[in-house]
Amino acid sequence: AGPLRAAAAAKSRFIGYAAANSPLANEAAYRSIATTEFSQVTAENAMKWDGTENVDNAFTYANGDAIVASAAANNQVVHGHTLVWHSQTPGWVQGLSATAMRAAMQDHISNVVGHWANNPVVQSWDVVNEVFDENGGMRTSFWYNTLGQSFVADAFRYARAADPDAKLCINDYNVEGINAKSTAMYNLVSSLKSQGVPIDCVGFQTHLAVQYGFPSQMQQNLQRFADLGVTVRITELDVRIELPADSNEIAAQNTYYGNVVKACLAVTACTGVTIWGFTDKYSWIPDTFPGQGQGLIYDTNYSPKSAYTAVLDAFGGA
Ligand code: G3I
Repeated sequence: AGPLRAAAAAKSRFIGYAAANSPLANEAAYRSIATTEFSQVTAENAMKWDGTENVDNAFTYANGDAIVASAAANNQVVHGHTLVWHSQTPGWVQGLSATAMRAAMQDHISNVVGHWANNPVVQSWDVVNEVFDENGGMRTSFWYNTLGQSFVADAFRYARAADPDAKLCINDYNVEGINAKSTAMYNLVSSLKSQGVPIDCVGFQTHLAVQYGFPSQMQQNLQRFADLGVTVRITELDVRIELPADSNEIAAQNTYYGNVVKACLAVTACTGVTIWGFTDKYSWIPDTFPGQGQGLIYDTNYSPKSAYTAVLDAFGGA
């Protein structure tokens, strides 16, 4: 059954995966699934600041270009990830004065977005990533501490100047349900829109964990953002389990995967769903949450799991 991309396309949605360069280049089994099941790609690491400008003004695009070339050859679109983030950003940026940091941000955005601006495959960007704390304040990152909140609007303006056609997104985690953090994001997007800041979309990472339950009112939350006049998208979906997984946890994981897809389908402005990887062989989860894992839709041997069927079924596929 499948592929997922056919079922998603029948609902006018993309289904995406986060691409890791090494297996995409070196493993036929990985490449086969990556290029046939999905219609959209996000680079898991290759387009981040440390991957593109680890040294000031020395830009490196080989890994990002490899992912874009694979996408182009397989009729997939690419979502750029990510321009301004507190993580995976080199030390030389973090120690700059306010004036120099703003200039470095503008230079980075204009170079990285500009590199792919004329490539029709690269259609959107996460301009700022994870700018909130869990209570609904701004995260006290080096960006915020040095520049104040204005770095957010500036980043969007610089990105628009670098590629007038790209869709520009804000992206975060733990904002899938209605809560203090998602409400802070809602208020910021509303404010940016009313000031004419060029923001087009909101990304909901959707790193879920069975032990924490499903986000409350996800569909309603996506809809309130859509009502501000932006598109919404699921950007980094996975559903982790405390190992060893039992049958109840697997069943909950399947339900969560299906519910995320259904929430997106229920909101006209939701453009699609990206899974953060696809095989449990390559996932950030065990590194960050020791003892947890099995969060993706293929097992470590590249066999589709029941979560694959849950995603396919939710898209209405057979
Ligand atoms: O590139 C180096 C390599 O040279 C070195 O040998 C190796 C040794 O550990 O590390 C490699 O870098 C790692 C990098 O992934 C590439 O594999 C980093 O240590 C590792 O920390 C990094 O993890 C990534 C993480 O972001 C870092 O913040 C994960 O792969 C990636 O899945 C994860 O993705 C984030 C999204 O960008 C934003 N939202 C949350 C999501 C999960 O944390």
